Amino acid sequence: MNDFDYLGEKAVYLDAACQSLRPRPVVEALERYYFEHNSCGERVKYPWGEQTDELVEATRKKVLKLLKLKSKDYFVSFTLNTTYGINLILNELDETVVKRVITSDIEHNSPFLATMAMSKRLGIPRIVLKRNEDGSLPLAGKLVEVARGNYGDEELDFAQAAVVVNCAANFDGRRLANLTELVKKVHKAGGLVIIDAAQAMAHYHEMLEKTEVDVICFSAHKMYAPSLGVIVARRDLLPKLKQNFIGGGMVDDVFLDRYLLSAEANREHVHTIFEAGLQAWGEICALGAAIEWLEDRSKADRKRLEVCTRELDEFLRSNPKVKMVGQEPNPTMSFYVEGLDSHLLGSALGKEGIMARTGYFCAHYYLDKVMQYPPLIRFSLSYATRESDIERVKKAMGKI
Ligand SMILES: Cc1ncc(COP(=O)(O)O)c(C=O)c1O
Repeated sequence: MNDFDYLGEKAVYLDAACQSLRPRPVVEALERYYFEHNSCGERVKYPWGEQTDELVEATRKKVLKLLKLKSKDYFVSFTLNTTYGINLILNELDETVVKRVITSDIEHNSPFLATMAMSKRLGIPRIVLKRNEDGSLPLAGKLVEVARGNYGDEELDFAQAAVVVNCAANFDGRRLANLTELVKKVHKAGGLVIIDAAQAMAHYHEMLEKTEVDVICFSAHKMYAPSLGVIVARRDLLPKLKQNFIGGGMVDDVFLDRYLLSAEANREHVHTIFEAGLQAWGEICALGAAIEWLEDRSKADRKRLEVCTRELDEFLRSNPKVKMVGQEPNPTMSFYVEGLDSHLLGSALGKEGIMARTGYFCAHYYLDKVMQYPPLIRFSLSYATRESDIERVKKAMGKI
């Protein structure tokens, strides 16, 4: 059975970088929660609650297994989305451990703005590194050469730095090619690496396998699961955090003016450090189903995505008026057509049933200010993309 059969013939959904379509088994897992064991996780002792607990615990394990990380080193917490996760971490990092915050120019507003806010709040410098074309980051050099902004003679320094960068960009899928070297260098200098993996988890999670980064934030809704945020953090991050955000579900005991944090009292409950209040239990259960579904993708599914990507990329590049942002074929591709307004093109495609995004996709700084592109159009493909969709796009683009 086709897990996206509800799509019908007419709809061509090319906005997976924002939210993937959800395959049937994932929607069914969410339905099972509502119809069969609707209950609060990690608090209740009746059977529905026990069933929810089992599935929630299984999802935490599946996240670590997918990334080949060990539970002795890492834990998994749930939150709203990538943006919330990054903001939460940056707000809770103890100011005595962070002396500078470093990001890059190709970031989504999510880390770009959160690092700006952190720098203002703590009165610490913020450095915006220039990414290389292959997606790698400079690891040394004078700031005047490797960073954007006005600098004197200072060298890039990762000492007590919080480095917050994506490992795949949301406009051309460009990947952080020197992730391992970055982590080594930053750790050696006594800094932390926080990875925005929003665009990596659906099709490139392998790049994070066995990583040693300090934190990974991602959005389940971009990896075929319901709307949900995930934080994967190293256990040794705990002493570097301050609880600015606290509430139910996080404490083992409460007195008049103090409390006992569950995360500190019990190793098994460390994930509660980021989980204030009731969580999206159904969505967490369904993320477990989405991870299983992702792991089950066959060679044929992967091949289809590769072929569709290549065909659409070749088609676009064959037109001299089409200006592509990325250098390489990638399921996420952005471009503009000379002499044609991207928003108008997006609306015209919409009328043909083709759903694509237009504008700067929350990467305003790089796309608008650095590259000075006009508003762009983005096609983002996924395992739901059919070869017939690509034919439809080609036909519609030709007509328009
Ligand atoms: C690279 C990247 N980071 C962060 C985000 C923010 O994700 P969310 O809106 O789910 O918080 C996105 C969303 O498109 C993204 O592509």
